[in-house]
Amino acid sequence: MTPDLECVDLVKRFDDTAAVDNVSFSVSPGSFFSILGPSGCGKTTIMRMIAGFLDPTSGDIKIKGGSVLDTPPNKRPVNMVFQHLALFPMMTIADNIGYGLRRRGMAKDDIARKVGEALDRIGLPGIGERKVDELSGGQKQRVAIARCMVLEPDVLLLDEPLGALDLKLREHMKVELKALQAAFDTTFLYITHDQSEALVMSDQIAVMNAGRFEQVGTGQDLYYRPDTPFVAGFIGDSNRWTGRIERAEGGKIQLRTDTGLAMFATGAALSQGDRAEIFVRPESIRLAASAEALPDCENQLKGIVTSLLFNGAASRVLVRDDVGETLEVTLPQSGEFAALQSGDTVHIGWGSAQATCFGSA
Ligand SMILES: Nc1ncnc2c1ncn2[C@@H]1O[C@H](COP(=O)(O)OP(=O)(O)O)[C@@H](O)[C@H]1O
Ligand SMILES: [Mg+2]
Repeated sequence: MTPDLECVDLVKRFDDTAAVDNVSFSVSPGSFFSILGPSGCGKTTIMRMIAGFLDPTSGDIKIKGGSVLDTPPNKRPVNMVFQHLALFPMMTIADNIGYGLRRRGMAKDDIARKVGEALDRIGLPGIGERKVDELSGGQKQRVAIARCMVLEPDVLLLDEPLGALDLKLREHMKVELKALQAAFDTTFLYITHDQSEALVMSDQIAVMNAGRFEQVGTGQDLYYRPDTPFVAGFIGDSNRWTGRIERAEGGKIQLRTDTGLAMFATGAALSQGDRAEIFVRPESIRLAASAEALPDCENQLKGIVTSLLFNGAASRVLVRDDVGETLEVTLPQSGEFAALQSGDTVHIGWGSAQATCFGSA
């Protein structure tokens, strides 16, 4: 199937620096594709090239198989939703949603019908005659999306559209955006620095760093099978060490961290003597009252709880081992450790498969 959107070896230089450095990806029809990366890594620059506001230094952009490089922005079959929604405050909601259709010269009756359908789809039927100011933040967001969707773009571009909303509403809108995307059956290209937004909504996520894509995959791929140290460190939290490989056989690795901790780990293409970066997630570490309760854990330590970081379902404890190393460990939700206190002795353990390591210089 021809992808709805395809970027091929896309490069954008500003003076001597490459803001976008040879990026290639394709987005299949009807899917939700996110570009996730820290501020300044080049996400908006990609978006502006796709929308046609900025010319690439080199590379190609294809929509439904055809290059759009020679197509002016207003003729490209894409629309863009910004963080600041740019609705017209003095117009009614119906006039806002119908704005692009009027500019295209569509007949009044057809516009009214399309606007009505869009309001139904966003779950706000019959509010067309109200003013934008009467809407809540989340409703405005839906109207901004409806305004783009009536134009039936091949791809909808969304640049951090939830950035201006408060936390609670952002959580809610994640679920809603995903539902809207399904309702309109449109291809979404979504840009964010917020991993939770990307993980919850996306079919595919590209993790971007300093102008390049580090890895493209599903949320599960990125979380469980990171390809690079950047992805391992950027998605989720981790206990991290640097160290040296002592033995390597068939992907199974024995290493020692620079702090002196011996560990069994997993990692491809590493051999004895190599330097490595090691990542173990707090939620991969099991907590137990005795070592016998950790039979499957090749890595085991005894330690003392130095801190309880209570955060509801995401609570963690800090555990300091014999050599003075502090590890962050997720507190199980079973209630078994509800009475845990600072100063308590605990056993912690994790399997070699939960210790991911990458070669480093
Ligand atoms: N018009 C421009 N002129 C010069 N540098 C720019 C311009 N636009 C963006 N940049 C630079 O390109 C890099 C990527 O910016 P941007 O794409 O906005 O990042 P993001 O959206 O990921 O935060 C940044 O270093 C930024 O300063
Ligand atoms: Mg940006």
